[in-house]
Amino acid sequence: MARFHDLEVKDVREETSDTVSVAFNVPEELSDAFSFIQGQYITLRAEISGEDVRRSYSICSAPKEGELRVAIKKVDGGKFSTYANEELKAGDVLKVMPPQGRFYTELDQNNAKHYVAFAAGSGITPVMSIMKSVLTEEPKSNFTLFYGNKNTGSIIFKEDIEDLKNAYVDRLSVYHVLSRENPGADLFYGRIDEEKCGRFCQMLFDPAGVDEYFLCGPEAMIKLVTNELEAQKVDKKRIHYELFTSPDQPNAAQHATSRKKSKSTGEKVDSAEVKVIVDGEESIINIASDGDSILDAALKAGVDVPFACKGAVCMTCRGKILEGDAEMEKNYALLDEEVEQGYILTCQSHPTSKNVTVSFDE
Ligand code: FES
Repeated sequence: MARFHDLEVKDVREETSDTVSVAFNVPEELSDAFSFIQGQYITLRAEISGEDVRRSYSICSAPKEGELRVAIKKVDGGKFSTYANEELKAGDVLKVMPPQGRFYTELDQNNAKHYVAFAAGSGITPVMSIMKSVLTEEPKSNFTLFYGNKNTGSIIFKEDIEDLKNAYVDRLSVYHVLSRENPGADLFYGRIDEEKCGRFCQMLFDPAGVDEYFLCGPEAMIKLVTNELEAQKVDKKRIHYELFTSPDQPNAAQHATSRKKSKSTGEKVDSAEVKVIVDGEESIINIASDGDSILDAALKAGVDVPFACKGAVCMTCRGKILEGDAEMEKNYALLDEEVEQGYILTCQSHPTSKNVTVSFDE
């Protein structure tokens, strides 16, 4: 089960007026636990105004850089992001969960691939890690980045991207797309959507010649770009995406308030007895099927279950159904095979049978 470790903040660097990047000192004994793959994220935890706040942030450094660094953009009303931008400083200690996530493909120095990334705002964070890793570890691969922002001033890692362009002039192409500042060409003015993506495909790259696509930004951008790429006959398997929900927004999905139908019996259940197994310890919790998620019910019952985003994205709350059934409201993290094997995101799951056993140890 995922655990938090105390890590000291090495430095806090201002990237734009509303974004900082935060690096951590990782002690020798935790270096294996905190080794990471390009594109992964870590979950941070701090007590802010008496509240236990947890948020996941993508790593912007490349594994070979020997540094664990994330970028944190301040969002309106965001507890953690405001704290990180306004108060956090070198020497502070945060609770940090080891890196997680699947937003990557295996790198190989013999690869001669073309990667295309679409990022918007702080969606650049994991893309930076991927882009740097591809350019340094795959000398025969090319990378094309489309990066959407409001204006020039809001471009995160602007200078780092320029430096990369200069260092890899033959293998890296970068196109900035601005929504509130006309860069002088209509093609790059506006938001990254289906129409823009279609024009980029026509004018700037051949979708048939691209090996991997990486998409990171708000859900709308990911959907629109995915639609267009699929319309261009791009194989779904080549499209990798990392959704960022604004972690301080409440879960947008309303879970059904009606009683849920059990898959196994065909009967509706009003409530269920849920056995939760964590670190080999069993707890029994009664949950109304239109009430709390399994995760929330377990937390209210005082069970120390792991979680971070509560938004179906980070997978920290993953459990496996050993008995009974449950239904997920949303799932952006689990693969189809995992769902078939009985894995659930407990933050999204409601029991749909009278008795359910969920293990966090599987
Ligand atoms: S807590 Fe992040 S997916 Fe459930």
